[in-house]
Amino acid sequence: MELPVVPRRPIDLDPLQRILEERYRPQDHQEAQELIVGACQEAQHLYGWVPPQAAHLIAEHLGVTINRVYGLLTFYADFRTQPPGRHYLWLCYGAACYVAGAQRLIEVLRDEYGMDEKGDLADGILSVNVFNGCLGVCDLAPVGQLDHQTYVGHLTAEELRALIERLRRNDGVEGSHGGSH
Ligand code: FES
Repeated sequence: MELPVVPRRPIDLDPLQRILEERYRPQDHQEAQELIVGACQEAQHLYGWVPPQAAHLIAEHLGVTINRVYGLLTFYADFRTQPPGRHYLWLCYGAACYVAGAQRLIEVLRDEYGMDEKGDLADGILSVNVFNGCLGVCDLAPVGQLDHQTYVGHLTAEELRALIERLRRNDGVEGSHGGSH
């Protein structure tokens, strides 16, 4: 199976800017404070973490202090303020993907690649977000989306391993796979 690999991209703030302008328009200071967490969730959804540039953009847009934004980012354990792995995989855990074997893929990631509770693989090559919803492409189940742009469908454990090895080779990262295949 050919799995396209894309280089890590720089942070593009334009999508976040658009979302903020469309949906985050506080009427007063109180409302601005209340919107910070939601705006940070948007950033994390877009980038896989909340980069400093995004935090500053949110503070500027809402008219709140950067300290307030970072205060909330560090208060909630779900937020990341450090970059995740070099690549990012949304792994679908919706009903169709679950039935088609998504759980096995998660076990491989945990047991063979040391995926931690944040979804980071031990060697930093990949961060995985197990998505408890539906990516909308159930005919590809079990499926993931790599680096926000490429669907990798009908994933078996073998193909997942091959994908990770390919990412490692492409990025020049030494493999430390301790699996038994
Ligand atoms: S349940 Fe995974 S794409 Fe729909």
